Amino acid sequence: MRVIKIFFFMAAVLTVLSIFWTFFYFVIGLVAEIGSFSLNPLAHHIISSILGIFLFAVIGDLISHLHKPKRLNYFQAIIQALRQIAKGNFEIELDASLTPPGLNVKSNPFIQLADSVHYMAKELSQIERVRQEFISNVSHEIQSPLTSIKGFAKALESDGLSDEERRHYIRIIESESDRLSKLSDNLLKLTVLENNRHPIRFEAYRADRQIRQVLLTLEPQWNRKKLDMRIKLEAVTLIADQELMNQVWMNLIQNSIKFTPEQGRITIRLFRQKNGTVFQVSDTGIGIREEDRIHLFERFYKADKSRNRTNGGNGLGLSIVKKIVDVHHGSIRIASEPGQGTQFTVSLPVLSESGNEPAIGK
Ligand SMILES: Nc1ncnc2c1ncn2[C@@H]1O[C@H](COP(=O)(O)OP(=O)(O)OP(=O)(O)O)[C@@H](O)[C@H]1O
Ligand SMILES: [Mg+2]
Repeated sequence: MRVIKIFFFMAAVLTVLSIFWTFFYFVIGLVAEIGSFSLNPLAHHIISSILGIFLFAVIGDLISHLHKPKRLNYFQAIIQALRQIAKGNFEIELDASLTPPGLNVKSNPFIQLADSVHYMAKELSQIERVRQEFISNVSHEIQSPLTSIKGFAKALESDGLSDEERRHYIRIIESESDRLSKLSDNLLKLTVLENNRHPIRFEAYRADRQIRQVLLTLEPQWNRKKLDMRIKLEAVTLIADQELMNQVWMNLIQNSIKFTPEQGRITIRLFRQKNGTVFQVSDTGIGIREEDRIHLFERFYKADKSRNRTNGGNGLGLSIVKKIVDVHHGSIRIASEPGQGTQFTVSLPVLSESGNEPAIGK
């Protein structure tokens, strides 16, 4: 195809050159006749050729100048658009009429360039939106415990408080401070995980023992609510980052304790499957509506904001869990019925000792 194009191009150039040469050949002949002077045939040929080539160059230059402004306009438009993007204005619109004519729209490099600039602007505006949302969420999560700490500290100043009231206010201040400190801790964890800065230490260890330890730590919480804890843990050796996995068990079990009313039941299972290990937490708690379920792994998402106020969560736990499960090449599923209960299932593939590549199922 390309060879044919080159062939036709060369043929056109030669044809035009021949026409110009012929034209000057006759003009010079005519001039010699009118001027009644004789011209050497070789000089006649050379002068006609030079003039023909000269005319060809002038016309070629004119044609390329006719196209040039359009091309320049186009680059100017793209440069302007990039400058706007650099300043943070992502609402750019490149004028399609400035596009220089091309052979076909898809392969036209100018259109591809404009498309890429549009795509970049769209992606950057999305990142900016997420960033703004994140800042507003963080501010809100900081502001609400601070307001409450300030309010109760002020209340403590007033006279005539009973010891009971005083203790109650102090407890609230303590728990709100804990919430603030947990927020900063979780934000740090999330940032480190999202930037892939956490050095993941894969090592073989007994996951069932680790989960038992987590349950022991949380005992005061499930005891207080008189929950019926059913625990079935197979002896499973996991190759994973112990510290990170601890957060997965901790948050999932803590959630089910938080969102299950008194005397409810929580079932925790750990078992082997053909392709790896499965960890399951089921509760008879408040459940999660379908419209909330799809957002649960988003940062700061809380299904029931008013209830969460008393539970003291920031809505970061599940996004951290998801990140950790992802770095272990696993998956997490939710099954829930509002008012009936929730089940979280974490499936982890078998990982090789040396790295994080799944040895099975890849
Ligand atoms: N077992 C569960 N039953 C009912 N709702 C749940 C359950 N687990 C999570 N949720 C809902 O998902 C939301 C997000 O959970 P996540 O663990 O991310 O945040 P949190 O527990 O509120 O706060 P944090 O974990 O940061 O302390 C919770 O606020 C709650 O609305
Ligand atoms: Mg949580």
